[in-house]
Amino acid sequence: MNSINAEKITEGAAYFRETQFLQDVIHGLSQSPKSLPCKYFYDERGSILFTEICKTEEYYITSTELTLLDEILPDIARLVGRNANIIEYGSGEGRKIRHLLAALDNPKSYTPIDISAEILLRSTSQLKREFPQIIIHPVVGDYMSHIRLPEVVASDRINHRVVFFPGSTISNFSPDEAQAFLGRINALLKPGDGLLLGVDLLKSPNRLHEAYNDKEGVTADFNLNLLRRINNELGADFDRHQFEHYAFFNMELSRIEMHLVSLKNQTVHIAGHRFHFKCGETIHTENSYKYTIEDVAKLGIACGFNHIKAWTDHNALFSIHYLMRA
Ligand code: AVJ
Repeated sequence: MNSINAEKITEGAAYFRETQFLQDVIHGLSQSPKSLPCKYFYDERGSILFTEICKTEEYYITSTELTLLDEILPDIARLVGRNANIIEYGSGEGRKIRHLLAALDNPKSYTPIDISAEILLRSTSQLKREFPQIIIHPVVGDYMSHIRLPEVVASDRINHRVVFFPGSTISNFSPDEAQAFLGRINALLKPGDGLLLGVDLLKSPNRLHEAYNDKEGVTADFNLNLLRRINNELGADFDRHQFEHYAFFNMELSRIEMHLVSLKNQTVHIAGHRFHFKCGETIHTENSYKYTIEDVAKLGIACGFNHIKAWTDHNALFSIHYLMRA
């Protein structure tokens, strides 16, 4: 049997349910300024839209990372060594991991962790066909909370662990959250285990601005899809045409901010709650922090890692780091 079924997916974070979604939405919209957690972008449609963003001319992150990764695979294979257990956070469609698994020396297991069970199922059954010798054990979970890893990826002297966290997903964390996250990764690892981390770099604000304001409007659709999702899943009555995508680079905080701006005074109903929006009021939907190489090295060291190596593309748009648990 090559395909897997839903029962074989481990529930890493038991709380990811619709009630949690409702609670988070109510909580976020009750704040001032209003906000929504960016993890909720990724329903089926949102995940498709994100894949479309990655294909736009302006959004350099995904293509640059993949090209860079391919260039440095021999270096990575040398650093990772034989018999590694690879754990990937936010595995998504699983494009990058193919390249990595194919380049490594006899990887023992692969544990993708993703918030979307559908995506995990799809990408995992395909990977099992391609890499029949690798134990593949998907875990559904929100990696902001504690995740229990399956026993098969136990770290011992022969079979060490390497965490793969590509795509600059770390950009969504505040500096404090990034520290806490790396601290949790550290706790999963033994000395000598690795962390392969993809991080988007600080660059021209104009270039950054373009990447989050593509002219086809795919990023705008992606952002607005959150309102559609809240309508569909929570029975809300957002009028998406009365909100506008707004993204800009906040230089002081070194982050892109994405917002949904209310285009008029309006009231939205969600599960018996009423939320008032003034014209021009925003819902803060995402932060995407931009780092320098030194920032990443410092962060890693502060969290108990040695910063072994950093690679960047020729235009210094994106970086990949190998950190080793100290
Ligand atoms: C997946 C968090 C890396 O911040 O660039 C893309 C998400 N948001 N366009 C990013 C995103 C809008 C993306 N990350």
